[in-house]
Amino acid sequence: IGQVDDVQELQRACLDTVPERYIRDGDDRPDGVNLCGKQIPVIDAGELRRGAPEELAKLRLACQDWGFFQVVNHGVEPELMEDMAKLAREFFMLPLEEKSRYPMAPGGIQGYGHAFVFSADQKLDWCNMLALGVAPQSIRQPALWPTNPASFTTTLENYSAEIRDLCLDLLSHIAETLGLERSTFSGMFGGEKAVQAVRMNFYPPCPRPELVLGLSPHSDGSALTVLQQDGAGGGLQVRHGGDWVPVGHGGVPGALVVNVGDSLEVLTNGRYKSVEHRAVVDGAGRDRLSVVTFYAPAYDVELGPMPELLGDGEPCRYRRFNHGEYSRHYVTSKLEGKKTLDFAK
Ligand code: SIN
Ligand code: FE2
Repeated sequence: IGQVDDVQELQRACLDTVPERYIRDGDDRPDGVNLCGKQIPVIDAGELRRGAPEELAKLRLACQDWGFFQVVNHGVEPELMEDMAKLAREFFMLPLEEKSRYPMAPGGIQGYGHAFVFSADQKLDWCNMLALGVAPQSIRQPALWPTNPASFTTTLENYSAEIRDLCLDLLSHIAETLGLERSTFSGMFGGEKAVQAVRMNFYPPCPRPELVLGLSPHSDGSALTVLQQDGAGGGLQVRHGGDWVPVGHGGVPGALVVNVGDSLEVLTNGRYKSVEHRAVVDGAGRDRLSVVTFYAPAYDVELGPMPELLGDGEPCRYRRFNHGEYSRHYVTSKLEGKKTLDFAK
C-alpha cells in the first residue's frame, strides 16, 4: 500500500495542487453535482414520542424514499454534542506525532489514520479519521482511546450512551412504522451485545476541492447511523434518484442526521433503503468535522428478511447471514459490502 500521507499535514504544507492519489477520475469528481433543491426530510422525535401518526408516516416515507433524515428534539444534550465536537477537534489539531500514538493498524478499523486503504492504486479520501469501538466492552481497544484531550474518554462514553438511547428510541418507532412490536429490533440486535462504534472524520480545506472527495461513496454496514457535524467546509451528499443531494450545514440547527444501514435494508427485504452517500470538501479555507455513530446488531446475530414483512408471494431478496461475517466482509471490500457480498440472492 505504501506510505499514506496525513491529509492535515498535506494541507499544512500549503500545496497549490494535491497528490495524484487523491485526484478522482472525471465521473467521480464532485463537480457537476445536480443541486436540485431537494432536501432530506426532517423528523421531530418529540412528535414520535407523543405518538403523532403524521410524524410516524413521515418517518416511514423517509426510510422508504430517502434512507436518510434529520432529527430534531432528539434528546441528546446540546452541551454534550458541543463538548464532543470540541474535543474531537482538539484531538485532530494535535501534532501528528501525538495522534500517531493511536495508530490504525494496516487493514484495521480502529485508531487514527486512513481506513479502507486496500491497494496502492486506490484513490484516497481527503480526510483524517479516528475510529473507535465503543460497545460491547469486548470490542474496545482502550490503548487507542486518546488520553489527550484529558476528558475525551468520559465525554465519548457519555455521548455514546445518549446516542445509543436515541438509536433505540428511533428503532422502536421504525418498528412501529412496519407494524411490528416496538421492542422488535432492540431484542433482535442482541440487547447489551449490540455493537456501537464511533468514527470522527476531519476534513481539512483542500487547494483543489473539485478534484477530490472527502469520503468515497458507500452505504453503511450498520442498522442505524447517527451523524453530528460542525464546520462549514464541504459536506455530506446523499444519493436520491440520479442526484447527489447536499444535506447542508445544520439546515436545522442542532439536528442530527440519521440514516438506515444495510441491516435494516435486509430485515425489511429492501423496503427501507441503505442509501449511498459521500462527503465533499471545501476550497475556501473552511474545514468540517463529523462525529458518526454506528449502531449495529451483535456479531453473532443472524439476519435475513423478516417473514412477517414479506407480502404474499414476495420473493426474499437477501440471503440470511451472520452479522459478524458481514462486518468482516464490509471492511475488506472497499466499502462495497452490499454490492459484492453474495448476500443478494
Ligand atoms: C460517513 O458516511 O461516515 C459520514 C460522512 C460525513 O458526513 O462526514
Ligand atoms: Fe457512511
